[in-house]
Order: sequence, then structure tokens, then C-alpha cells
Amino acid sequence: MGAFELTKTNEWQKLTHLAPKTRSLRELLLEENRFRDFSFKNEYLLLDYSKNNLEKDGLETLFKLLEKMNLRQAIKAMFSGEKINFTENRSVLHTALRSGGNSVQSSLPLNDSKTLKEITTELAKMKKLSEEILAKKISSDEPAITDVVNIGIGGSYLGIKLVIEALGNYQNHLKTHFIANVDGLALEEILTKINPKTTLFVLVSKSFTTKETLTNALTIKKWLQKRTTGNVLEKFVAVTANEEKAMEFGLLKENILRFGDYIGGRYSLFSPVGFSIMLNLGTKNFENLLAGAHEMDEHFLNADFSRNLPILLASLGIWQINFLNNSNHLVLPYCHFLRSLPSYLQQLDMESNGKSITKAGQRVAHATGPFLWGEVGTNGQHSFYQSLHQGTQSFTADFIGVKTMPGTYAHHQKILLANMLAQSEALALGLNEAEFLENSKNLNLTESMIPHRLFAGNKPSNVLILEKLTPQALGYLIALYEHKVFVQGFFWGINSFDQWGVELGKSIANRIEKTLGEKKITERFSPSTTALIKYLNS
Ligand code: F6P
Repeated sequence: MGAFELTKTNEWQKLTHLAPKTRSLRELLLEENRFRDFSFKNEYLLLDYSKNNLEKDGLETLFKLLEKMNLRQAIKAMFSGEKINFTENRSVLHTALRSGGNSVQSSLPLNDSKTLKEITTELAKMKKLSEEILAKKISSDEPAITDVVNIGIGGSYLGIKLVIEALGNYQNHLKTHFIANVDGLALEEILTKINPKTTLFVLVSKSFTTKETLTNALTIKKWLQKRTTGNVLEKFVAVTANEEKAMEFGLLKENILRFGDYIGGRYSLFSPVGFSIMLNLGTKNFENLLAGAHEMDEHFLNADFSRNLPILLASLGIWQINFLNNSNHLVLPYCHFLRSLPSYLQQLDMESNGKSITKAGQRVAHATGPFLWGEVGTNGQHSFYQSLHQGTQSFTADFIGVKTMPGTYAHHQKILLANMLAQSEALALGLNEAEFLENSKNLNLTESMIPHRLFAGNKPSNVLILEKLTPQALGYLIALYEHKVFVQGFFWGINSFDQWGVELGKSIANRIEKTLGEKKITERFSPSTTALIKYLNS
């Protein structure tokens, strides 16, 4: 039997055939049971996916194809610790982080007591350390630590920031700051705000080799040495999978939290990487975040494909990308607390599925991960939504809102959610000439002015509304997107868990750095880059 060729399967052929025949959203949304059949509700959320140009037959064919490809078994392989990260020969076990380690009976199929013990031990160490730090007081009502600076980038930054912002209603007295970029101005901005005596620095780097993070840490170390007495390294907690390198940096062993290389950077916020989260929200809320993610893990493992949220979202995305050529995916949170969701999901999705080589080392014969971007609502409406409504590029969108948000100015929530629903409605239905003229009888427009006022519509989106933004619900939501990305990566036959595509730029940057400020350029670059270096050196 020849190798499996996705695009040659009957199901792929059928989907290709169905795509151009799909009825318009206007027509589909007239169907009486459209919402009932194309929505999902549970205690955490409501997902409306009825505004996708997709009919039952198409969705069922996608599920059938995933069954045929043995997705079920691939999910089990990840959960049970098989080395599915095949280019790095590593397991992918972020799901084990939220299974309660070996201290509770979990239904997850991981039979690896060493890993589970490691996870439980580090979680316990993390809790102990955070509780000790929070308990330190200068006087009875004055905490010793007032500020935390999280130093880290990519997966050692984005998820932590997302969670701390999203759970703003659960925070204690600590102010958390983030230093990610290597730009000295960004660093300066934070350092001028904090008191070196009452600030804790959490240095997060899985590899402990990331240039930006180590440069920032070293500058901070020197900054502290000038301003405080004693061993400044006592002011650091390090989180890493490379303890040796952290020790070389001089960090105290008791202040190092470890995690295994079976936790990918962009999947790591539930590990000790989330130490700043735990400090900011307390151990109970952190555990609730894990519990919510665990619930999603169980759902992903056990629910039928047609009622399985990650599989549903992944299938909708595959349909849009591979059969309707919509390779821009917008994440549009209508909740200030979720303002970092687009950047978090951008790394999760694009670093995982922005690939083009299969396990067999061949170039894929189809499109893979989308360009993912977005902005918090309603800000985006006054910037790029014009292009969504009337431009020529195609896209899909996830609108994400929260049904009940506590806050002083409750009437704003009504306006916010009205806008979210309005945008998805306008994108789907558009506005035709008859409708426009009906509502603008007194405008007296010349004929050529009318098309400017019309909206083509038929633009797909999902609306996902969280019942409440609790730690559990947030864990559930994040794990939902993690698993969606997993399903899509599996479908496309790529490795969602490496990121070789970031390496070339890093190594060229190191070579260029050596030439900046030098009289002679000994390294070879393109004429364009050489000229730019000369300009900078002049
Ligand atoms: O450059 C990409 C990357 O390796 C990401 O995958 C990762 O999240 C980030 O850099 C930071 O890496 P580290 O945690 O090892 O410092």
C-alpha cells in the first residue's frame, strides 16, 4: 500500500467538490434549526458556529476524515507520553501538568510515575516558595515584596501575561511587570517604576539560552548590584528546564524551579513557568486554572467528535483554510481582560502550525496554519474592520466575549456585547442594494455612489461567549485552543511541537551583532545587508 496522501482521499475530494456549492450565509441562516444544529453550550461557554459557510454534510465528512486518519489514537499517543515531537524526540505532556500529578486518580492515559512525580514535586515546591514569598512582611501590614518582574519572552511571557490580565478580579496586592523584548527602552521603563528593595525578579527561560532574556537578566543584576547590598541573586527566582545553565548564571539552587523538556514553551503556562501567575493570584486560583484545563483535557479525550469542542473548532478552521482558502484567522476578544488573547494565540497557533514539512520530510500538498492576528473590541472596529467588511482579503474570525463581567460601569458591557454580535451579524449578512435604498430614501445619491455603501457579507465567524471569566473557565478556554491547534497539526501531518523556523534569524543576528560598531565587516552578508550595516556603523 502506498503512503497516505491526504489530498487523494475520497473525503478530501468530496470536500473540494462541496466547497464551491455551499449556500451563502444568508441562506443558511434562514434554516430553522441552523443555530440548534451549529452551536454548543455547557456550563463554561456557548459556541455559535452557525455563521460558517458550511453545511452538515461537509462537517460530517471532516469528522469522517479525521476518524479515518485515526485522530483518536493520535490524541491518546500525546496524552500517554509517546514521543510525538518527532524532530526533537520528545514527549508532549502539558496535559499531565493539570492531571493532579500522581496525587489524585486521573483518567488520563499516562502511565509514567517518574514524570508524574516530577510534576507533583515541582508544583509543591512552587507553592511553598510562593507562599513563603507572599508571607514575608516588613511590618505587620507591610509586605516585603510589592512588585514582581517576569523576565522572559515567547512562551515564557505571553501566557503568563494573558492569565494575569484575564484574572484581574482575582489578584492580590502584587504588581506584576513584564520584560520580554531586548529593547533597552522597554527595560528602562520598568526599572524606573520599581523599588529594587521590594521587587522580586522571576527569570523564565526553558532553554536558559535565549539572548533577549539573558541580556535583560544580566542588566538587571548589575542594576541591582548598584542599588542594594547583599547577594542580589537572592532576589531572583529562575524557572527553567536547564538547571545547569541557571546555576552557571549564579542562581541559588533553592530558587530554581524546574520543568521537563516534555513541556513545550508555548504550552508551559500551567507548569512552574506560571510562577508569576501563582504569586499574583495565589495557589488556589492557580489550581483552579489547572482544574479547568484538565476538564477540557478530559472532554477532548472522551467526547464524540461532533460534540468535541477542539475537534469542532479545528474542523471549522480546516474547512476555511483548505477548502475555502481563508488563511487569515482573526481573534477578536470583546473583553478588556482578554486583550492579550490575540498575541497569546498568535504564538500558540503560528509557532505550532506555521510549518510545511511532513513527518516523512516532504513538502505538504496543501495549506497549513493560518496567519493569526487580532485586537480587542471595539478598538479594532475603528481601525481594520473597514477592510474586513469591504476589502478583498478573505479571513475567518473568532469573536470572544464574556456574558457576565463584574465591574462598576455595567452599562458599558451591554454596548460592548451589542457591538460584538453586530459585527458578526454584519459580516455574515452584509447589506444589499435593495436594503440600503430602503433605509436611505432621502439621501439622493448618484448611482455610482451606491456601491460604496454596500456590504457583500457572507464572511464567516464564530462567536464564543464565556459564562464567567473564572480561573476554571480560562483554563478551559486555553486548553481548548491548545487542542484545536493539535488537531489541525495532526491533520496537516506536521510537527506542532518544534519551532526550527526561528533559528536562522537568531544565528544571523548573532553574526550581525559582531559587526555592529566595528570598523571592518569580516562576515559575509548580502550587499543589501552589508550596506545597512555600513550605514549603522557610519
Ligand atoms: O524563539 C522561539 C522560542 O524558542 C519560543 O518557542 C519560546 O517560547 C521562546 O523562544 C523563549 O524560549 P525560552 O523559554 O527557552 O527562553
